[in-house]
Amino acid sequence: MSRPPARSHGRLSIRASARPRDLMAETARPGAWTARVVTLFPEAFPGALGLSLTGKALAEGLWALETLQLRDFATGKHRNVDDTPTGGGAGMVMRPDVVDRALAAAAEGTSGDWPVIYLSPRGVPFSQGMAQRLARADGVTLLCGRFEGVDQRVLDKRRVLEVSIGDYVLTGGELAAQVLIDATVRLIPRVLGNAESAVEESFSEGLLEHPQYTRPNDWDGRQVPEILLSGHHAKIAEWRHAQSEALTKERRPDLWRAYLARTGRDPVEGQELSDAQTIAGKGEQKD
Ligand code: ADE
Repeated sequence: MSRPPARSHGRLSIRASARPRDLMAETARPGAWTARVVTLFPEAFPGALGLSLTGKALAEGLWALETLQLRDFATGKHRNVDDTPTGGGAGMVMRPDVVDRALAAAAEGTSGDWPVIYLSPRGVPFSQGMAQRLARADGVTLLCGRFEGVDQRVLDKRRVLEVSIGDYVLTGGELAAQVLIDATVRLIPRVLGNAESAVEESFSEGLLEHPQYTRPNDWDGRQVPEILLSGHHAKIAEWRHAQSEALTKERRPDLWRAYLARTGRDPVEGQELSDAQTIAGKGEQKD
């Protein structure tokens, strides 16, 4: 089978075959937050990021998305990007020389605060806090893995941060990169409307969201909770907060313990600590 002519190495290719070019980086405003994605599957982008609010913000140039085809940085007749694991074992490992050239190209023209992240189930857990941190950066380079992983030496050389989106194994890093980008881009000013920003605030309090209802008040014999029909805003807010607490306690004991510690309540009993205990430091937030 004949290959298309080789592209010059190091060129930034801005492509997403599944979407027209109008969503891509040429529309970005100068200095817009940029995600540079190194991947064997650039056609996976923008994917869901091209839809709804993130897609609209991308088209408006509030953020930019650039992909680099990893294979463009491979050499030789077969343009191999992987090789067998040294020491034996199943699968293939992404070659350090190929990944290094791709990351060097991705670093071109970047300045300021620009972390380089490799999406991997071995990484530190992604969180709302990390999304907030990344949204304040100038951009991010995301390396998407396939196969068994990447040769450790290039990760060390380029001080790459490994990040996981959860304790399960995906086939590759592309979906994980989209999760990370989505959670980050929605924190960039003007990307979201006011309604959505409120949701983010609520999560950053460290509690799960309270249940939501809409019309009709009686649906299929099930009633909307009375309090929500009362028009009493303070009481509604109190009820929603209590629901958030109950849900968090039941579903996420880890978040619940951190919340209790932060709010100065006893992590074991869920009771308020006395002032003396709080001052003694028992109720302080742990990071
Ligand atoms: N690649 C494969 N699995 C992953 C995960 N859980 N998080 C991030 N990247 C991955």
